[in-house]
Amino acid sequence: MKTLFIFFVLMNLDQLLKTGRCTETQDQILSITPKTQEQVDILKNVSTQYETALWQPVSPQYIKEENEVHLFVPANSSETVKDLLQKHAITHRVLLANTNELIEMQTRNDSTDPRSSSTFYERYHSLEDIYHWINRTQQDNPNMVKAILIGSSYEKRPLYVLKLSVNNRPNKKAMWIDCGIHAREWISHAFCLWFVQNSLSFYKLNQDITRILDNMDVYILPVMNPDGYQYTWTTNRMWRKNRSVSKSSNCIGVDLNRNFDANWCTEGASDEPCTEIYCGAFPESEPESQAVANFLRSHKDSVQFYLSIHSYSQMLLFPYSCTLDEAENHKDLLEMAQEAAQAIRRYYRNTYKYGSGAKTIYLAPGGSDDWAYNLGIKYSFTFELQDRGRYGFLLPPSLISRACNEALIAVKTIALKVIEKT
Ligand code: ARG
Ligand code: ZN
Repeated sequence: MKTLFIFFVLMNLDQLLKTGRCTETQDQILSITPKTQEQVDILKNVSTQYETALWQPVSPQYIKEENEVHLFVPANSSETVKDLLQKHAITHRVLLANTNELIEMQTRNDSTDPRSSSTFYERYHSLEDIYHWINRTQQDNPNMVKAILIGSSYEKRPLYVLKLSVNNRPNKKAMWIDCGIHAREWISHAFCLWFVQNSLSFYKLNQDITRILDNMDVYILPVMNPDGYQYTWTTNRMWRKNRSVSKSSNCIGVDLNRNFDANWCTEGASDEPCTEIYCGAFPESEPESQAVANFLRSHKDSVQFYLSIHSYSQMLLFPYSCTLDEAENHKDLLEMAQEAAQAIRRYYRNTYKYGSGAKTIYLAPGGSDDWAYNLGIKYSFTFELQDRGRYGFLLPPSLISRACNEALIAVKTIALKVIEKT
Protein backbone atom coordinates (compact mmCIF):
# COMPACT_ATOMS: atom_id res chain seq x y z
CA MET A 1 0.00 0.00 0.00
CA LYS A 2 2.76 2.39 1.02
CA THR A 3 4.82 1.66 -2.08
CA LEU A 4 1.77 2.20 -4.23
CA PHE A 5 1.29 5.64 -2.64
CA ILE A 6 4.90 6.61 -3.26
CA PHE A 7 4.56 5.41 -6.81
CA PHE A 8 1.63 7.78 -7.40
CA VAL A 9 3.41 10.71 -5.86
CA LEU A 10 6.43 10.11 -8.06
CA MET A 11 4.28 9.73 -11.12
CA ASN A 12 2.49 12.99 -10.52
CA LEU A 13 5.74 14.77 -9.86
CA ASP A 14 7.04 13.46 -13.13
CA GLN A 15 3.98 14.73 -14.95
CA LEU A 16 4.29 18.10 -13.32
CA LEU A 17 7.90 18.38 -14.44
CA LYS A 18 7.03 17.33 -17.95
CA THR A 19 4.24 19.84 -18.43
CA GLY A 20 6.45 22.37 -16.75
CA ARG A 21 3.60 24.42 -15.37
CA CYS A 22 5.42 25.27 -12.20
CA THR A 23 8.69 26.18 -13.90
CA GLU A 24 9.27 29.15 -16.15
CA THR A 25 9.77 27.36 -19.42
CA GLN A 26 7.66 29.64 -21.59
CA ASP A 27 8.36 32.81 -23.45
CA GLN A 28 6.90 35.82 -21.68
CA ILE A 29 5.80 39.38 -22.28
CA LEU A 30 6.94 41.80 -19.60
CA SER A 31 5.53 45.21 -18.91
CA ILE A 32 8.12 47.63 -17.54
CA THR A 33 7.77 51.33 -16.82
CA PRO A 34 11.18 52.97 -16.38
CA LYS A 35 11.20 55.63 -13.67
CA THR A 36 14.61 57.25 -14.20
CA GLN A 37 16.94 58.02 -17.08
CA GLU A 38 19.27 55.30 -15.81
CA GLN A 39 16.46 52.75 -16.04
CA VAL A 40 15.64 54.01 -19.53
CA ASP A 41 19.24 53.40 -20.60
CA ILE A 42 19.28 49.92 -19.12
CA LEU A 43 16.05 49.01 -20.86
CA LYS A 44 17.40 50.29 -24.17
CA ASN A 45 20.40 48.06 -23.60
CA VAL A 46 18.36 45.02 -22.70
CA SER A 47 16.19 45.37 -25.76
CA THR A 48 19.14 45.65 -28.10
CA GLN A 49 21.81 43.41 -26.51
CA TYR A 50 19.65 40.48 -25.54
CA GLU A 51 17.58 38.12 -27.58
CA THR A 52 14.31 39.92 -26.90
CA ALA A 53 11.70 41.59 -29.08
CA LEU A 54 10.44 45.05 -28.30
CA TRP A 55 6.65 45.14 -28.74
CA GLN A 56 6.12 48.66 -27.57
CA PRO A 57 7.50 51.17 -28.46
CA VAL A 58 8.53 50.07 -31.95
CA SER A 59 12.16 51.11 -31.52
CA PRO A 60 14.40 51.53 -28.42
CA GLN A 61 14.90 55.21 -29.21
CA TYR A 62 11.33 55.86 -28.06
CA ILE A 63 11.80 54.36 -24.58
CA LYS A 64 11.18 57.22 -22.16
CA GLU A 65 10.69 57.75 -18.43
CA GLU A 66 7.18 56.83 -17.24
CA ASN A 67 6.23 55.28 -20.61
CA GLU A 68 5.18 51.65 -20.47
CA VAL A 69 7.41 49.22 -22.36
CA HIS A 70 6.22 45.81 -23.59
CA LEU A 71 9.04 43.35 -24.04
CA PHE A 72 8.89 39.83 -25.46
CA VAL A 73 11.43 37.69 -23.59
CA PRO A 74 12.13 34.17 -24.88
CA ALA A 75 12.39 31.46 -22.24
CA ASN A 76 16.12 31.03 -22.66
CA SER A 77 16.96 34.64 -21.85
CA SER A 78 14.26 35.05 -19.21
CA GLU A 79 16.53 34.48 -16.22
CA THR A 80 19.31 36.75 -17.45
CA VAL A 81 16.93 39.57 -18.29
CA LYS A 82 15.03 39.32 -15.01
CA ASP A 83 18.28 39.23 -13.00
CA LEU A 84 19.48 42.32 -14.78
CA LEU A 85 16.26 44.17 -14.12
CA GLN A 86 16.36 43.17 -10.47
CA LYS A 87 19.98 44.26 -10.11
CA HIS A 88 18.95 47.76 -11.14
CA ALA A 89 15.78 47.74 -9.05
CA ILE A 90 13.57 47.91 -12.15
CA THR A 91 10.22 46.39 -11.38
CA HIS A 92 8.32 44.45 -14.01
CA ARG A 93 4.94 42.87 -14.40
CA VAL A 94 4.41 39.69 -16.37
CA LEU A 95 1.84 40.67 -18.96
CA LEU A 96 1.65 37.24 -20.57
CA ALA A 97 3.20 34.11 -19.15
CA ASN A 98 1.68 31.63 -21.56
CA THR A 99 3.00 32.98 -24.85
CA ASN A 100 3.66 29.53 -26.28
CA GLU A 101 0.07 28.46 -25.67
CA LEU A 102 -1.22 31.66 -27.23
CA ILE A 103 0.89 31.14 -30.34
CA GLU A 104 -0.32 27.56 -30.52
CA MET A 105 -3.89 28.79 -30.20
CA GLN A 106 -3.37 31.27 -33.04
CA THR A 107 -1.95 28.73 -35.46
CA ARG A 108 -4.23 25.83 -34.63
CA ASN A 109 -6.38 24.85 -37.56
CA ASP A 110 -9.58 23.70 -35.97
CA SER A 111 -11.57 23.58 -39.19
CA THR A 112 -11.59 19.81 -38.92
CA ASP A 113 -12.76 19.91 -35.33
CA PRO A 114 -16.58 19.48 -35.35
CA ARG A 115 -16.85 20.90 -31.84
CA SER A 116 -15.33 24.18 -32.86
CA SER A 117 -17.92 26.88 -33.28
CA SER A 118 -15.67 29.55 -34.77
CA THR A 119 -16.00 30.24 -38.44
CA PHE A 120 -13.30 30.63 -41.06
CA TYR A 121 -13.20 34.38 -40.41
CA GLU A 122 -12.71 33.96 -36.68
CA ARG A 123 -9.39 32.23 -37.14
CA TYR A 124 -5.95 33.26 -38.36
CA HIS A 125 -4.84 31.79 -41.65
CA SER A 126 -1.55 30.77 -43.14
CA LEU A 127 -0.37 32.51 -46.29
CA GLU A 128 -1.22 29.47 -48.35
CA ASP A 129 -4.77 29.46 -46.98
CA ILE A 130 -5.15 33.15 -47.79
CA TYR A 131 -4.04 32.59 -51.40
CA HIS A 132 -6.64 29.81 -51.67
CA TRP A 133 -9.24 32.08 -50.13
CA ILE A 134 -8.48 34.82 -52.68
CA ASN A 135 -8.99 32.34 -55.48
CA ARG A 136 -12.18 30.93 -54.07
CA THR A 137 -13.64 34.35 -53.29
CA GLN A 138 -13.12 35.43 -56.86
CA GLN A 139 -14.56 32.19 -58.29
CA ASP A 140 -17.63 32.24 -56.04
CA ASN A 141 -18.44 35.91 -56.79
CA PRO A 142 -17.60 36.44 -60.45
CA ASN A 143 -19.93 39.44 -60.74
CA MET A 144 -18.52 41.36 -57.81
CA VAL A 145 -14.91 40.30 -57.28
CA LYS A 146 -11.83 40.39 -59.43
CA ALA A 147 -8.30 39.53 -58.30
CA ILE A 148 -5.64 41.83 -59.72
CA LEU A 149 -1.95 40.96 -59.62
CA ILE A 150 -0.15 44.20 -58.77
CA GLY A 151 3.40 42.88 -58.40
CA SER A 152 5.43 40.43 -56.40
CA SER A 153 7.37 40.40 -53.15
CA TYR A 154 11.13 40.26 -52.67
CA GLU A 155 10.94 36.46 -52.53
CA LYS A 156 8.68 36.51 -55.61
CA ARG A 157 5.35 35.79 -53.99
CA PRO A 158 2.37 37.34 -55.81
CA LEU A 159 0.69 40.47 -54.46
CA TYR A 160 -3.05 40.22 -55.17
CA VAL A 161 -5.56 43.01 -54.80
CA LEU A 162 -9.25 42.10 -54.69
CA LYS A 163 -11.44 44.58 -56.48
CA LEU A 164 -15.03 44.71 -55.23
CA SER A 165 -17.25 46.41 -57.75
CA VAL A 166 -21.03 46.22 -58.18
CA ASN A 167 -21.60 48.59 -61.10
CA ASN A 168 -19.85 50.60 -63.77
CA ARG A 169 -20.99 54.13 -63.04
CA PRO A 170 -18.99 56.76 -64.87
CA ASN A 171 -16.48 58.62 -62.69
CA LYS A 172 -16.87 56.07 -59.96
CA LYS A 173 -14.90 56.69 -56.79
CA ALA A 174 -12.82 54.11 -55.02
CA MET A 175 -11.27 53.25 -51.71
CA TRP A 176 -8.13 51.26 -50.94
CA ILE A 177 -7.38 49.06 -47.93
CA ASP A 178 -4.09 47.30 -47.31
CA CYS A 179 -3.43 44.82 -44.54
CA GLY A 180 -0.30 43.23 -43.21
CA ILE A 181 2.38 45.81 -44.05
CA HIS A 182 3.84 44.57 -40.77
CA ALA A 183 4.08 40.80 -40.64
CA ARG A 184 3.39 40.13 -36.97
CA GLU A 185 0.18 42.19 -36.82
CA TRP A 186 -2.05 39.22 -37.63
CA ILE A 187 -5.35 40.88 -36.75
CA SER A 188 -4.68 43.16 -39.71
CA HIS A 189 -4.73 40.33 -42.26
CA ALA A 190 -7.80 38.92 -40.52
CA PHE A 191 -9.52 42.29 -40.94
CA CYS A 192 -9.07 42.38 -44.72
CA LEU A 193 -10.69 38.94 -45.01
CA TRP A 194 -13.45 40.03 -42.63
CA PHE A 195 -14.12 43.17 -44.62
CA VAL A 196 -14.46 41.31 -47.92
CA GLN A 197 -16.72 38.66 -46.40
CA ASN A 198 -18.89 41.31 -44.77
CA SER A 199 -19.20 43.38 -47.94
CA LEU A 200 -20.13 40.38 -50.06
CA SER A 201 -22.70 39.02 -47.63
CA PHE A 202 -24.37 42.30 -46.70
CA TYR A 203 -24.55 44.10 -50.01
CA LYS A 204 -28.26 44.82 -50.56
CA LEU A 205 -28.99 43.81 -46.95
CA ASN A 206 -27.11 46.39 -44.92
CA GLN A 207 -27.87 49.98 -45.84
CA ASP A 208 -24.39 51.38 -45.21
CA ILE A 209 -22.55 48.63 -47.08
CA THR A 210 -24.95 49.02 -49.98
CA ARG A 211 -24.46 52.77 -50.15
CA ILE A 212 -20.69 52.39 -49.99
CA LEU A 213 -20.47 49.74 -52.71
CA ASP A 214 -22.99 51.51 -54.94
CA ASN A 215 -20.79 54.58 -54.88
CA MET A 216 -17.27 53.19 -54.62
CA ASP A 217 -15.13 50.41 -55.91
CA VAL A 218 -13.05 48.84 -53.16
CA TYR A 219 -9.48 47.66 -53.65
CA ILE A 220 -8.22 45.32 -50.93
CA LEU A 221 -4.68 44.04 -50.53
CA PRO A 222 -4.99 41.36 -47.82
CA VAL A 223 -1.26 40.63 -47.48
CA MET A 224 1.07 43.45 -48.38
CA ASN A 225 4.11 41.70 -46.89
CA PRO A 226 3.72 37.99 -47.77
CA ASP A 227 7.38 37.07 -47.16
CA GLY A 228 7.29 38.51 -43.66
CA TYR A 229 3.91 36.91 -42.95
CA GLN A 230 5.15 33.50 -44.05
CA TYR A 231 8.18 33.99 -41.81
CA THR A 232 5.96 34.70 -38.78
CA TRP A 233 4.24 31.35 -39.34
CA THR A 234 7.37 29.29 -39.86
CA THR A 235 10.22 30.88 -37.97
CA ASN A 236 9.71 34.01 -35.89
CA ARG A 237 6.24 35.09 -34.75
CA MET A 238 7.56 38.56 -33.88
CA TRP A 239 8.89 39.51 -37.34
CA ARG A 240 7.80 42.98 -38.54
CA LYS A 241 9.67 43.92 -41.72
CA ASN A 242 9.82 42.35 -45.16
CA ARG A 243 12.58 39.81 -45.91
CA SER A 244 14.86 41.61 -48.31
CA VAL A 245 18.59 41.07 -48.08
CA SER A 246 20.67 44.18 -47.57
CA LYS A 247 23.82 44.86 -49.56
CA SER A 248 25.50 46.58 -46.66
CA SER A 249 24.62 44.35 -43.72
CA ASN A 250 23.78 40.84 -42.58
CA CYS A 251 20.53 42.03 -41.08
CA ILE A 252 17.42 41.27 -43.09
CA GLY A 253 14.30 43.28 -43.82
CA VAL A 254 13.06 46.79 -44.51
CA ASP A 255 10.19 48.41 -42.61
CA LEU A 256 7.78 48.86 -45.51
CA ASN A 257 6.01 51.62 -43.60
CA ARG A 258 9.24 53.67 -43.63
CA ASN A 259 10.01 52.98 -47.29
CA PHE A 260 7.62 55.42 -48.99
CA ASP A 261 8.61 58.79 -50.35
CA ALA A 262 7.38 61.07 -47.56
CA ASN A 263 10.24 62.83 -45.77
CA TRP A 264 11.93 59.49 -46.28
CA CYS A 265 14.38 58.35 -43.61
CA THR A 266 14.30 61.49 -41.49
CA GLU A 267 13.75 61.44 -37.71
CA GLY A 268 11.60 58.46 -36.70
CA ALA A 269 13.13 56.06 -39.21
CA SER A 270 16.60 54.55 -39.33
CA ASP A 271 19.19 53.94 -42.04
CA GLU A 272 20.56 51.05 -39.99
CA PRO A 273 19.41 47.70 -41.48
CA CYS A 274 19.46 45.96 -38.11
CA THR A 275 16.70 48.13 -36.64
CA GLU A 276 12.95 47.44 -36.83
CA ILE A 277 12.40 50.82 -38.51
CA TYR A 278 14.98 50.52 -41.29
CA CYS A 279 13.87 52.75 -44.18
CA GLY A 280 15.61 50.78 -46.97
CA ALA A 281 18.28 51.92 -49.42
CA PHE A 282 16.07 54.54 -51.09
CA PRO A 283 12.32 55.38 -51.28
CA GLU A 284 10.34 52.50 -52.83
CA SER A 285 13.46 50.33 -52.85
CA GLU A 286 11.24 47.37 -51.93
CA PRO A 287 9.08 45.55 -54.48
CA GLU A 288 6.13 45.51 -52.04
CA SER A 289 6.02 49.28 -51.48
CA GLN A 290 6.75 49.92 -55.14
CA ALA A 291 3.85 47.71 -56.27
CA VAL A 292 1.43 49.57 -54.00
CA ALA A 293 2.77 52.98 -55.01
CA ASN A 294 2.56 52.13 -58.72
CA PHE A 295 -0.99 50.87 -58.40
CA LEU A 296 -2.14 53.94 -56.49
CA ARG A 297 -0.35 56.30 -58.90
CA SER A 298 -2.26 54.76 -61.78
CA HIS A 299 -5.59 54.90 -59.89
CA LYS A 300 -5.20 58.22 -58.14
CA ASP A 301 -8.02 59.88 -60.05
CA SER A 302 -10.57 57.45 -58.65
CA VAL A 303 -9.17 56.56 -55.21
CA GLN A 304 -10.42 59.09 -52.65
CA PHE A 305 -9.96 57.11 -49.47
CA TYR A 306 -6.75 55.30 -48.45
CA LEU A 307 -6.63 53.03 -45.42
CA SER A 308 -3.82 50.97 -43.95
CA ILE A 309 -4.55 48.45 -41.19
CA HIS A 310 -2.09 47.79 -38.36
CA SER A 311 -2.10 46.69 -34.73
CA TYR A 312 -1.91 47.14 -31.82
CA SER A 313 -2.90 50.14 -29.62
CA GLN A 314 -6.42 51.15 -30.80
CA MET A 315 -5.86 54.35 -32.72
CA LEU A 316 -7.33 56.06 -35.76
CA LEU A 317 -4.49 58.05 -37.30
CA PHE A 318 -4.21 60.41 -40.25
CA PRO A 319 -1.45 62.57 -41.81
CA TYR A 320 0.96 63.73 -41.04
CA SER A 321 3.27 61.24 -39.39
CA CYS A 322 6.35 62.50 -41.22
CA THR A 323 6.15 66.04 -39.86
CA LEU A 324 4.46 67.87 -37.01
CA ASP A 325 2.82 70.19 -39.54
CA GLU A 326 -0.93 70.00 -39.91
CA ALA A 327 -2.45 68.55 -43.07
CA GLU A 328 -4.32 71.05 -45.21
CA ASN A 329 -7.71 69.37 -44.46
CA HIS A 330 -6.79 68.56 -40.85
CA LYS A 331 -10.18 69.66 -39.55
CA ASP A 332 -12.05 67.30 -41.87
CA LEU A 333 -9.79 64.40 -41.02
CA LEU A 334 -10.07 65.06 -37.30
CA GLU A 335 -13.84 65.23 -37.52
CA MET A 336 -14.05 61.98 -39.44
CA ALA A 337 -11.74 60.16 -37.06
CA GLN A 338 -13.64 61.51 -34.10
CA GLU A 339 -16.95 60.33 -35.52
CA ALA A 340 -15.50 56.91 -36.20
CA ALA A 341 -14.14 56.66 -32.66
CA GLN A 342 -17.53 57.72 -31.30
CA ALA A 343 -19.23 55.00 -33.34
CA ILE A 344 -16.88 52.41 -31.84
CA ARG A 345 -17.62 53.71 -28.38
CA ARG A 346 -21.34 53.72 -28.94
CA TYR A 347 -21.63 50.27 -30.49
CA TYR A 348 -18.82 48.40 -28.78
CA ARG A 349 -17.99 50.45 -25.68
CA ASN A 350 -14.35 50.52 -26.61
CA THR A 351 -11.93 53.45 -26.70
CA TYR A 352 -9.81 54.47 -29.67
CA LYS A 353 -7.48 57.45 -29.66
CA TYR A 354 -7.43 59.58 -32.78
CA GLY A 355 -5.35 62.36 -34.30
CA SER A 356 -2.47 63.01 -36.62
CA GLY A 357 0.19 60.29 -36.47
CA ALA A 358 3.09 62.50 -35.44
CA LYS A 359 1.18 64.06 -32.56
CA THR A 360 -0.67 60.94 -31.43
CA ILE A 361 2.24 58.47 -31.41
CA TYR A 362 5.54 59.60 -32.83
CA LEU A 363 7.26 61.02 -35.86
CA ALA A 364 7.38 58.18 -38.38
CA PRO A 365 8.37 59.29 -41.88
CA GLY A 366 8.13 57.21 -45.05
CA GLY A 367 4.67 55.85 -44.21
CA SER A 368 2.18 54.78 -46.86
CA ASP A 369 -0.59 57.01 -45.47
CA ASP A 370 1.44 60.24 -45.75
CA TRP A 371 2.68 59.26 -49.19
CA ALA A 372 -0.86 58.51 -50.42
CA TYR A 373 -2.03 61.81 -48.96
CA ASN A 374 0.67 63.75 -50.78
CA LEU A 375 -0.25 61.91 -53.98
CA GLY A 376 -3.65 63.59 -53.67
CA ILE A 377 -5.73 61.03 -51.78
CA LYS A 378 -7.10 63.53 -49.28
CA TYR A 379 -8.78 61.02 -46.98
CA SER A 380 -5.90 58.91 -45.78
CA PHE A 381 -5.89 56.89 -42.55
CA THR A 382 -3.96 54.29 -40.60
CA PHE A 383 -5.92 52.21 -38.10
CA GLU A 384 -4.22 50.49 -35.21
CA LEU A 385 -6.64 47.73 -34.17
CA GLN A 386 -6.98 45.88 -30.83
CA ASP A 387 -5.80 45.58 -28.26
CA ARG A 388 -4.00 47.98 -25.95
CA GLY A 389 -1.36 45.52 -24.80
CA ARG A 390 -3.17 42.77 -22.92
CA TYR A 391 -2.32 40.30 -25.69
CA GLY A 392 -0.59 42.66 -28.09
CA PHE A 393 0.29 40.88 -31.33
CA LEU A 394 -0.99 37.60 -29.86
CA LEU A 395 -4.68 38.53 -29.84
CA PRO A 396 -6.55 35.22 -29.37
CA PRO A 397 -8.82 34.06 -32.21
CA SER A 398 -11.85 34.44 -29.94
CA LEU A 399 -11.31 38.23 -30.04
CA ILE A 400 -11.06 38.52 -33.84
CA SER A 401 -14.74 39.18 -34.42
CA ARG A 402 -14.97 42.02 -31.88
CA ALA A 403 -11.78 43.62 -33.14
CA CYS A 404 -12.88 43.43 -36.78
CA ASN A 405 -16.44 44.57 -36.19
CA GLU A 406 -15.37 47.69 -34.36
CA ALA A 407 -12.83 48.52 -37.07
CA LEU A 408 -15.52 47.87 -39.67
CA ILE A 409 -17.86 50.41 -38.17
CA ALA A 410 -15.06 52.97 -38.22
CA VAL A 411 -14.36 52.23 -41.89
CA LYS A 412 -18.04 52.55 -42.75
CA THR A 413 -18.37 55.83 -40.86
CA ILE A 414 -15.44 57.37 -42.72
CA ALA A 415 -16.38 55.92 -46.13
CA LEU A 416 -19.88 57.39 -45.89
CA LYS A 417 -18.39 60.77 -45.01
CA VAL A 418 -16.04 60.56 -47.99
CA ILE A 419 -18.98 59.81 -50.30
CA GLU A 420 -20.80 62.82 -48.87
CA LYS A 421 -17.84 65.16 -49.32
CA THR A 422 -16.57 64.17 -52.75
N1 ARG B 1 2.64 51.89 -35.86
C1 ARG B 1 2.73 52.41 -37.21
C2 ARG B 1 4.17 52.44 -37.63
O1 ARG B 1 5.02 52.58 -36.80
C3 ARG B 1 2.13 53.78 -37.24
C4 ARG B 1 1.83 54.24 -38.59
C5 ARG B 1 1.32 55.64 -38.61
N2 ARG B 1 1.61 56.23 -39.89
C6 ARG B 1 2.83 56.52 -40.32
N3 ARG B 1 2.97 57.02 -41.48
N4 ARG B 1 3.87 56.33 -39.58
O2 ARG B 1 4.48 52.26 -38.76
ZN1 ZN C 1 2.23 48.19 -37.97
